[in-house]
Amino acid sequence: MAEKVKDVFKYLDENHRSIAFDEFTITDERTAEFDRDDVSMAGRLSRRIGAPNPILTSPMTTVTEDEMGIAAAKAGGAGVIHCANTPDEQKKLLTKVKFHLNGIVDRPILASADKTVGETLEELDNAGHDFRSLPVTDENGRFMGLMTNTVFEFYKGDDSHTPIAKAMIPADQVPTASSDIRDDPHAAYDAMRHYKIKLLPLLDENYRVDGLYLLDDVQRAIEGNPRGYNLDASGRLITAMAVSTWSRDAMERIQESGKYLDLVVIDTSHGESKYTFSAVKAMRQAIRLVKNLREEYGAIDIMVGNVSDPEPAVALVKAGADAIRVGRGPGGICISREKLGGGTPQASAIYNCAKAVRKIDKKVAICADGGIRGPGDMVKALLLGANCVMVGGLVAATDEAAAEVMRRADGTEYKEYNGMGSAKELRRSWAARLRYDPSFEAPNLDDDDIRVRVEGVEKELPLRGPVAPIFREMAYDVTTEMYNGAFKKLKQLRKGGHITLTGQAGLLEGRASSS
Ligand code: XMP
Repeated sequence: MAEKVKDVFKYLDENHRSIAFDEFTITDERTAEFDRDDVSMAGRLSRRIGAPNPILTSPMTTVTEDEMGIAAAKAGGAGVIHCANTPDEQKKLLTKVKFHLNGIVDRPILASADKTVGETLEELDNAGHDFRSLPVTDENGRFMGLMTNTVFEFYKGDDSHTPIAKAMIPADQVPTASSDIRDDPHAAYDAMRHYKIKLLPLLDENYRVDGLYLLDDVQRAIEGNPRGYNLDASGRLITAMAVSTWSRDAMERIQESGKYLDLVVIDTSHGESKYTFSAVKAMRQAIRLVKNLREEYGAIDIMVGNVSDPEPAVALVKAGADAIRVGRGPGGICISREKLGGGTPQASAIYNCAKAVRKIDKKVAICADGGIRGPGDMVKALLLGANCVMVGGLVAATDEAAAEVMRRADGTEYKEYNGMGSAKELRRSWAARLRYDPSFEAPNLDDDDIRVRVEGVEKELPLRGPVAPIFREMAYDVTTEMYNGAFKKLKQLRKGGHITLTGQAGLLEGRASSS
């Protein structure tokens, strides 16, 4: 029988039972009096960070680096860049996401008039910048001209020895505007249309470069993000990165990357450990330290987990978390439950943690992490109280997944998808070791220790093409099921949804069969 979610969980509680996604279905079937397009699945990743398509990709070495970060934020969610790297490497990956789109380029990278074209290109490559639009300045920082993609094209081979001062479009041929229009993309757009240009440098009263407008970004700012990107207040992509519970390293990472960061995820499989609590404290301190650098973006929120029981979830909120990552053992590469015997089945974990956390702070977001195999699991998680989901396997082996393409002897290609607690990842990085043993002993584990401590498996997955269609399918199916129940917003789904418990036969009936 279809029941309100809270009544089903009351019954389960009374019978000392917990359930997984496959043990229930959503039963709401109502005729909506609004259009399909009016349904919004906009959710939240944390206290202050929204998301049109609330999906985070997991901070795993084979899943999320810059390419996945860009694709996920453009698809309306965000990618959490893993921390199995140095603080500097992580910063480079994060800044690629943050600067992939620009409202206004506040402090554009400048070219020096006295360098050659070749030297300038080398500097850009070394810094990992793939753009080629650079205002040129003299030794006093005064605007001299502009280098563009097209200009660079004409100075290849021997011509790359040409000084920038000679190659550039000189200042008297470049339309510019006063820095007074820094906050006025409409004025910038008018000027760009008038001069039919794609780049508009802004100059202060001393003729120094004080910003750069790019046509694509100005258009997006004016049109109001019609593609559903997940953007910060300045029109840049939302960024997220993981840190370990090792406070000293985590603090260093925040100080290094904090300026470009929106969401920091303290990544541990033991959200209840004392090391996790001290990491939350350290994060708060680090965020305070970088606060003055953050004015142009906004706040940095903290997500922490993983937990599957309300007690540590509530304690972490009291310690200062803005989002709680729920899930111990439901992931497709997880063997934590087999190894440790612990963890609550995921549907109950989400419901119970969300209920307990909302009692003390309604703004804290719940992230359902692990075991989201497709849109059906996502909409169930959202109905049970999650504000967003986190996925690993669902997006692994896509073009943007951080693993390399491998080739077997028979010519077939694949990408690895490794649990962070798998032997391979534990061997490969201290970040993976710390995730499963947040004590300070973890970085020094030898191979025998690693064999004992394995909590995940390694998979080889066939290549799956770009990740964007997966996000689109999730959004389409989740909103379809919301429309089937006449729910316009997630809040209504959460408050008004009904479910029914299904037996094994009910589950099998819903799967494709061979007949
Ligand atoms: P999915 O099901 O989306 O799960 O592939 C991804 C989530 O699984 C967690 N994770 C692990 N859990 N052993 C575990 O028990 C592991 O080796 C492991 N690696 C990742 C993590 O929470 C991730 O987001």
